Amino acid sequence: MCGIIGITSNKPVSSAIINSLKKLEYRGYDSAGIATLTKGFINEIKSEGRVDNLEKSLINIKMEGTIGIGHVRWATHGIPNTVNAHPHSSETVSVVHNGIIENSTLLKKHLINKGHKFKSQTDTEVIVHLITEYLKKDSLKDSIIKMLKQLHGSFALGIIFKDQPDLIVGARRGSPLAVGYGSNENYLGSDSYSLKSMTNKISYLNDGEFCVVKKNQVEFFDENGTRVNKKVLELSSKEIEEQPITLKNCIKEYIDNINNEINIYNFPWKINEISSVTLIGCGTAYNSCLIAKYWFEALTSLDVTTDVASEFRYRKNRFKKNNLYIFVSQSGETADTYAALDLCNKNDMKTACIVNVIESSIARDSNFVLPIHCGPEIGVASTKAFLGQMLVLYILILKLSFLRKDLDKNSYIQKTKNLKELPKLVEKTLLTESQIQSISKTFADAKGSMFLGRGFSYPIALEGALKLKELSYTHAEGYPAGEMKHGPLALIEDGMPVIVLAPKDLYHKKIISNMQEVIARGAKVLLITNKSTDEVISENIWEKIEVEKASDDLLPFLLTIPLQKLAYYTALEKGYDIDKPRNLAKSVTVE
Ligand code: F6R
Repeated sequence: MCGIIGITSNKPVSSAIINSLKKLEYRGYDSAGIATLTKGFINEIKSEGRVDNLEKSLINIKMEGTIGIGHVRWATHGIPNTVNAHPHSSETVSVVHNGIIENSTLLKKHLINKGHKFKSQTDTEVIVHLITEYLKKDSLKDSIIKMLKQLHGSFALGIIFKDQPDLIVGARRGSPLAVGYGSNENYLGSDSYSLKSMTNKISYLNDGEFCVVKKNQVEFFDENGTRVNKKVLELSSKEIEEQPITLKNCIKEYIDNINNEINIYNFPWKINEISSVTLIGCGTAYNSCLIAKYWFEALTSLDVTTDVASEFRYRKNRFKKNNLYIFVSQSGETADTYAALDLCNKNDMKTACIVNVIESSIARDSNFVLPIHCGPEIGVASTKAFLGQMLVLYILILKLSFLRKDLDKNSYIQKTKNLKELPKLVEKTLLTESQIQSISKTFADAKGSMFLGRGFSYPIALEGALKLKELSYTHAEGYPAGEMKHGPLALIEDGMPVIVLAPKDLYHKKIISNMQEVIARGAKVLLITNKSTDEVISENIWEKIEVEKASDDLLPFLLTIPLQKLAYYTALEKGYDIDKPRNLAKSVTVE
């Protein structure tokens, strides 16, 4: 796997290419290289190892040029050294390539017979000489079409031309390639993540297509040179990206930074008036209630139950005076949750709510309100509100636990201190995005997928499956991993993607056994765990993602991030509207 980038602009491009290459390093770091067109010449700099080395080589060289390409390499043909590093250039063209040209030996022989001299041991260099050969007689477009027809194997290409100072050609078969649109500049990249700091407008090439990227125009063609129209997709993961800030804001509201004390003022009941808790919500808000049940049980001696609001409101509930009913709702207007609250109020119960919208009906009619302070959530699929709900529930649980003397002072202070690290940990975990983007295609193409968790990770598995369903319209099931053998294992077939959430917590060994059971039946497992010094048993898995190292209590927050991103990129891959999925509404005010 290699990564490629191309930029055409009206300003020098070398530093922007370096920045994008850093984001592509997850695709390989055997070598890195860059080529720009400067005063009618191809100027090429390459170095072994990481992009940092390439950046250092550029310190003393002024690499000019308003058009250029870059590459990070994971070596396949030819050892990882500077000569084999991309770009590969002749006097006429310079090429970056991700993929493998399977008939390169044959093509090379033919080109050597025609007098071409090869410098490297790579398969890529045949592309350089092929196109140089065709350009002797044919137009640029015909040369590209003819060259592509000669290649067997997989590729994503970026090509610049000495005599075409305003364009980059991109082409794709098998390997991914995206085009990004800027103002007075346009881009080419192996993924949208590498282009994200420059644009949120993206198109993807399909297999067999090529494109001509100029700074004010991009044209797409099929393999025969017929024009193709492309949809421009808008990347809009703003609310997922905002989470480190929204969490920080919320922590600031509740935690006294100096004493590491939780400030919850005007709690209307004495602590010994509460002996049990019922958590009620719908959808994502309900999933946050499920997580809270695990925390309540781990950190307090209170009895806890959870309920889906639409079920609670019609059940024959046994209302208990010493029970605290907690309603969780982003909008504070969800009809079922409001009806459940109303029922509790009519029975004169203790009611509290955790909401985002503090002027909402649920907030107005609850005895006590805890806001999540995450700002307006516009995307229909709840993301930052989910983390906000979990955070406020966790804060409330810590406080109750301390007041009830279930938790000693030291542990209480330590846990509130740990909490202050959460925004940074989430920020770092967001970097797993680059890995997720490349695997989302498997989920987009699959008939269905499963999300497995145990303990604290089980509600996160439910939330991950819910996000994938609502954004990408593919079937996904969240399941407690230990339950698979009681039925759902029958669903597993060869190549089915299964996400296993296996942080290094007390359930780790158990879920790894469950993971082996699905692998043995053909599942393609994406293992999500946390960084740690302990070795993870990960034989035969398909992919592994590691979230940051954190205390067990905070892992559910971190595990959520890659799942949000997976849903996002799977939907993007399918061209769906991420902020407004079909058939849904942000606030469900009808029953
Ligand atoms: C899913 C989602 C919904 C809401 C549910 C409750 O992404 O957003 O499942 O969580 O409709 O909405 P609120 O929290 O407004 O009560």
